[in-house]
Amino acid sequence: MAKKDKRKHKAKDKKHKKGRFTAATADKHVLYELSVQNVKDEVKFLDSTYRDLRGRRATLFREDFAGTTAAACEWVRIADESRAFAVDIDPDVLAWGRSRHVESLSPEQQQRIELVVGDVVEASTPLADIIVGFNFSYFVFKTRDTLRAYFENARRNLQPDGIFMLDCFGGSEAYEECEEETEQDDFTYVWDQNDFDPVSADIQCHIHFDFPDGTEMREAFTYNWRLWTLPEIREVLAEAGFKKSTVYWEGADEDGEGNDEYRPAEKGDADPAWIAYIVAER
Ligand SMILES: C[S@@+](CC[C@H](N)C(=O)[O-])C[C@H]1O[C@@H](n2cnc3c(N)ncnc32)[C@H](O)[C@@H]1O
Repeated sequence: MAKKDKRKHKAKDKKHKKGRFTAATADKHVLYELSVQNVKDEVKFLDSTYRDLRGRRATLFREDFAGTTAAACEWVRIADESRAFAVDIDPDVLAWGRSRHVESLSPEQQQRIELVVGDVVEASTPLADIIVGFNFSYFVFKTRDTLRAYFENARRNLQPDGIFMLDCFGGSEAYEECEEETEQDDFTYVWDQNDFDPVSADIQCHIHFDFPDGTEMREAFTYNWRLWTLPEIREVLAEAGFKKSTVYWEGADEDGEGNDEYRPAEKGDADPAWIAYIVAER
């Protein structure tokens, strides 16, 4: 979930100081967005990947597991023709997204976005150019059958030349039970890989937030997932009918650190904590 920092550890500042957030006053969705999401870059990546593949701009975007709808709202901002559907099973998080993000769009932009309360396995929307399931949310499907059912529904809701994009994380650290802390401006984001079972590949993770006044928001979010591997995901995409899937692997700068640029790759590196994207063509 720590896509911005790739779960890399940063030293924790133990000093208590005044900040704009405390456990009693902070909104967990605001903290989540500040810690985990970077929708401007994400939407630029979606837009350019589609253009590279199809030679034209995508218009209709569906954000599955949309949560606070931040990416869908960014999508309708980038072009006058852009339309977005944001699907989430939780009406409360969509209501939060509506008041926080959708209502900040212009009235015209608001006409081009629709929030859908529903299960991504069943949701039916106008055929999209791009559907995404980001921040590993599809790891909630723990069997091949349920994962395939989700992928089949995504495929059904795509244009004939549409693309389906997923992210994935892995590396040796993904199998460790550990907590990693990342300093944000006014709080600490804690990614807690609480439990991993090698027999089932079930993984339970929490997000906690610690504040400068010493208060903590424990288990603000909890995820019970299966840690799928890239080859498993690609096999299930093929079983669901996708004709091609490509892994986009992160490039490196001159010091060997990830440079946030993802390119099609046949082979990755044995990085202890990697994030990759999968682009599946309908
Ligand atoms: C990890 S959050 C992802 C939020 C956001 N998309 C992001 O990239 O950070 C997962 C979201 O998936 C939703 N969710 C879980 N199972 C779902 C399902 N079967 N259908 C639709 N939404 C689901 C949850 O309500 C939650 O808002």
